[in-house]
Amino acid sequence: MQVLLALVSFALSVARAGAVPAPRQLSGLNDLFVAKGKLFWGNIGDSNTLSISSNTEVLTSEFGALTPENSMKWESIEPTQGSFSFTGADALVDFANSNCLMVRGHTLVWHSQLPAYVSAISDAATLTSVIQSHIAGVAGRYAGQFYGHEVLNEDGTLRSSVFSNVLGDSFIATAFEAARAADSTAKLYINDFNLDSNNAKVQAMVALVKKVNSGTQLIDGIGTQTHLSAGGSSGVADAITTLASTGLEVAITELDIASAPTADYVAVAQACLDEPRCVSITSWGVSDANSWRASETPLLFDSSFAPKDAYDALVSLLL
Ligand code: XIL
Repeated sequence: MQVLLALVSFALSVARAGAVPAPRQLSGLNDLFVAKGKLFWGNIGDSNTLSISSNTEVLTSEFGALTPENSMKWESIEPTQGSFSFTGADALVDFANSNCLMVRGHTLVWHSQLPAYVSAISDAATLTSVIQSHIAGVAGRYAGQFYGHEVLNEDGTLRSSVFSNVLGDSFIATAFEAARAADSTAKLYINDFNLDSNNAKVQAMVALVKKVNSGTQLIDGIGTQTHLSAGGSSGVADAITTLASTGLEVAITELDIASAPTADYVAVAQACLDEPRCVSITSWGVSDANSWRASETPLLFDSSFAPKDAYDALVSLLL
């Protein structure tokens, strides 16, 4: 009898082993997020942080894409007209290629971190051609290599800038057309902050992308930066659903949350999981030590690169 039981239990365990493949070992936020059907959970970098080994260890084990924190901004990459400085951006791209990370370009046209020679232009034809040359220079250099480009950091309400002041809203189509001409494969995004609830800015963004895309689809995706205060996640799911109602991709592009509350991080990740058009999340930094909001300790790793409770909660959510 005992032998029979042992044989039956052996047969059952063989059958189970055959029917259910051993689970793949998943590790790191990116792997877990990808296993849920998403494209990546990325982070940022540039030479200042890519030279810190504790940073790159976390970066390469936890994250699947890189956005340049500053090196592709206009003041860094074309500081004087017609003269490009690709050293910082190339270093970021080389690091990404060596470590199998995707790249999001950031950002071709933005009112901030803009050289004075651009801000001083008052003639529409000159500004149009300066935008076109800038985008051709940057997007052209990395054509075919990036997952996407944040073409504009702008929202539907069009803030006052040299671009909107001189060109009205035509600079939007100009920028997207130039980016498409320079790189036929990258996803082209419009990206901005304070799109964290279904507010007037979100509504304006939806109206703007519909208007710009009414002929040809110029804009492929909407980025919502998601720089939150503690407790600021309650409207994020609604905002993401509303942005996704355009039919475009949505990405959370610059996530950080003051004091890194577990509930807020989980709510943001859940909002992206729940919306099929939400393709990715990018954290705006690895460790608080290198955060642009360092005093608010908003990141998933503390200043010693130790994971916080919010990190553990995300892993539990995604497992
Ligand atoms: C920030 C960088 O993190 C800082 O290092 C820099 O001094 C200022 O810009 N929205 C954006 C990002 O689109 O480019 C900004 O990054 C943060 C706000």
